[in-house]
Amino acid sequence: MKSIEVCLTHQQLKKYNFKGKIVIIIDVLRATSTINTILYNGAQLVKPVETLEECKKYRDESYIIMAERMGKKVPGFDYGNSPTKIDKNKFEGRKVSIATSNGTKAIIKTKGSKFSILGSFLNMSSVIDFINKNPEDVLIVCSGWQGSSNTEDTLCAGGIICRSKTHSFISDNAIMAKELFESSKNKILETMMGSSHAKRLSSNDNIRDIEFCSKVDIQPVIPILRDDYLVLM
Ligand code: MLT
Repeated sequence: MKSIEVCLTHQQLKKYNFKGKIVIIIDVLRATSTINTILYNGAQLVKPVETLEECKKYRDESYIIMAERMGKKVPGFDYGNSPTKIDKNKFEGRKVSIATSNGTKAIIKTKGSKFSILGSFLNMSSVIDFINKNPEDVLIVCSGWQGSSNTEDTLCAGGIICRSKTHSFISDNAIMAKELFESSKNKILETMMGSSHAKRLSSNDNIRDIEFCSKVDIQPVIPILRDDYLVLM
């Protein structure tokens, strides 16, 4: 039987062997939710980058450049990391580079997997269908926040585990994630609002983002990493 495992922060990824596996990167608030929204709204591709300097260079190649640090938009960039500011008219057909505090770093670290795909509540069923239809074992990588696990990423990982009928799991990380989702599946927004990052974001007037990122299956697409770029599968 296929297995599914959960890594609770991207800093712990070095402990896992994900060669030949499907890796699902989750950063619900907000990187994977935002990137899903950018591609769902017709962008050609998204380039996840680690540093602000690298991200800014893509402006010379007519990219939309986006950057977030500590939950806030970085001055000098076109956008921060807010999915509710993604306007189809502005993003359709465009190339985008994005640098965030944790999510884009997590994505970049998963190179070498069989498939690296992005998960969020927005596309949860699409991700579940994909792992159920493919034979590979799965590693879910929660981005976390500055080296600590967080509620929203673990909750989303638990939702994938609960609803995947074809995978076994034994780790405490997977059991905890599943239990969290089973106890909170009917109050996802409420649970997210209680998270530490929601408190950080709400102080930056991003309540709309938290509400948006809690919506399940409103964007049935899968971003996949191909040659260092994220495109729709
Ligand atoms: C992250 O990458 O840590 C998050 O996406 C930060 C944010 O957007 O607030």
